Amino acid sequence: HWTAAERQAIASVWEKISLESVGSQALARLLIVYPWTQRYFSSFGNLSSAAAILGNPKVKHHGKTVLTALGQAVKNMDNIKATFSKLSELHSEKLHVDPGNFRMLGETLIIVLAAELGAEFTPELQAAWQKLLSVVSSALSRQYY
Ligand code: HEM
Repeated sequence: HWTAAERQAIASVWEKISLESVGSQALARLLIVYPWTQRYFSSFGNLSSAAAILGNPKVKHHGKTVLTALGQAVKNMDNIKATFSKLSELHSEKLHVDPGNFRMLGETLIIVLAAELGAEFTPELQAAWQKLLSVVSSALSRQYY
């Protein structure tokens, strides 16, 4: 459950960021730092180097899609499990994404927030965001068996 300070921390960061910029950078970092995650995105074309990944329009577009979905968690912080139940089913049954990958994307997202916000991304903001991303990650892992 969420304190008023955590809710404020989540909202204050959310209203500052660009979904496309943060989403595409976080997804690009996932694909560069953890290159085995590229196997899920074989339909995305050229992922052969960091520059190719950073310039890939499908990575850009999908990064925004992922962040837009994360917005559902931000708006439904008390109901994240139900909010992501269909997405969990999709990632498990259709996409066969290993659920360990959700944590890694959460990590690259935190790095991107830190890079974008600099000193403004205080330890308190980081703590609230890591909590949110860990709830999201467990919600997305729920339909796996
Ligand atoms: C598709 C959200 C993490 C792999 C999607 C879609 C959304 C989404 C909204 C589009 C669903 C649709 O078309 O109906 C999320 C969220 C994540 C997450 C919120 C975590 C915060 C991951 C991770 C991987 C992954 C970690 C793999 C390493 C995929 C793939 C697709 C997909 C392969 C299909 C892409 C395509 O072909 O267009 N995800 N995702 N997702 N996701 Fe995720």
